[in-house]
Amino acid sequence: MKTLRPLQYVENLENLTWLDRVANPMRDLVHAVVRPSAVRDLLHGVPLGHPLHPLMVLVPTGAWVSAAVLDVVPGSKPAATILVGMGVASAAPTALAGWTDWADGHEQQLRVGVVHAAANLVAVGLYSVSLVQRLRGGSGRLLAYSGLLAVSAGGFLGGHMAYRQAMGANHAEDVPHRVEPGWHSIGPLTDLPEGELEQRMLGEIPLVVFREGNEVSVLSGTCSHLSAPLIEGTISYDDGDPCLTCPWHHSMFSVKNGEVLHGPATSPQPSFDTRVVAGNVEVSLPNAG
Ligand code: FES
Repeated sequence: MKTLRPLQYVENLENLTWLDRVANPMRDLVHAVVRPSAVRDLLHGVPLGHPLHPLMVLVPTGAWVSAAVLDVVPGSKPAATILVGMGVASAAPTALAGWTDWADGHEQQLRVGVVHAAANLVAVGLYSVSLVQRLRGGSGRLLAYSGLLAVSAGGFLGGHMAYRQAMGANHAEDVPHRVEPGWHSIGPLTDLPEGELEQRMLGEIPLVVFREGNEVSVLSGTCSHLSAPLIEGTISYDDGDPCLTCPWHHSMFSVKNGEVLHGPATSPQPSFDTRVVAGNVEVSLPNAG
C-alpha cells in the first residue's frame, strides 16, 4: 500500500530551512521562559518516565471531539459549550508541555513542530470564537468543526514527530535486545583512568565507563533522549554521587544506575551490572536478550 500524499508534504516540511527563522527564536524564547529545572522536568514528564505532553493532549482533543458529537444531539448545546470551553482552557498548559519538549529537538523536528503548533493555534482561535458565539446565544458549530479540522491536522503532525521522527521516544530501547545475556569482559581494570569517562564497545553497542577506585559503573553510551554520544558528556557530583550530563540537550543521568535526574530525557540509560574477575572488568545487562 502506498503512503498518503499528505505524508509526502510533511516530509517536505522537515527540509524547509526558512522555517528556522521562526523555529530558532521560538526555541530560544522557550528556553528563556521555562527556566527552573524542576518546572522543566515536570513539563517534560521526567516523574512519569515518558513525555507529559501526549497525556495532556487527551484533555482538549477529548473535549472537542465530544463537543462535536454533542453538537448534533438535540438539546445538548449547554454540554457542548462546556466542553468547548474546557478544551480552550486546557490548551495553554498542554501547549506549554509540548513547547518544552519541542525546544530540545533536532532541526527537522523543530520545523515540523512549528507547523504543528500553528495548526493547533488556529484550532484554539476557532474554538475560542466559537465559545464566545455560544455564550452570546449563537450556534458556534461551524467554527467548532473548523477547529476540529485544524486540531486534526496538528495531531497528524504531532504523530509524525512522535513516531516518524521519534521525538519523545526512548532511543536506548533497543539496547537490551542487542546485548547477549550473561557476563562480558570489557578489559583490564587498570586500563581505566579514575574519575574520567572511557568508551568501550560491547559488539556494536558503545558503553560509557566510569571508574572510582575498584568500583566501575557502566551505562549504554547512546543518550536515551535523542542518541547523543554520552562519551562527550561531562561528569559532576550530586551528594557525592557521580552524574553524567549529555552534551546535546543536557539531560543528566545517575552514573551508578542510569536514572534520569534531569530531562529532557524521560527514559533511563541502560545500566550494566559490573564485577572484576582476575583483574578484568565484566559487565552484564539485566533483562538482556
Ligand atoms: S540527546 Fe538530548 S539530552 Fe541527550
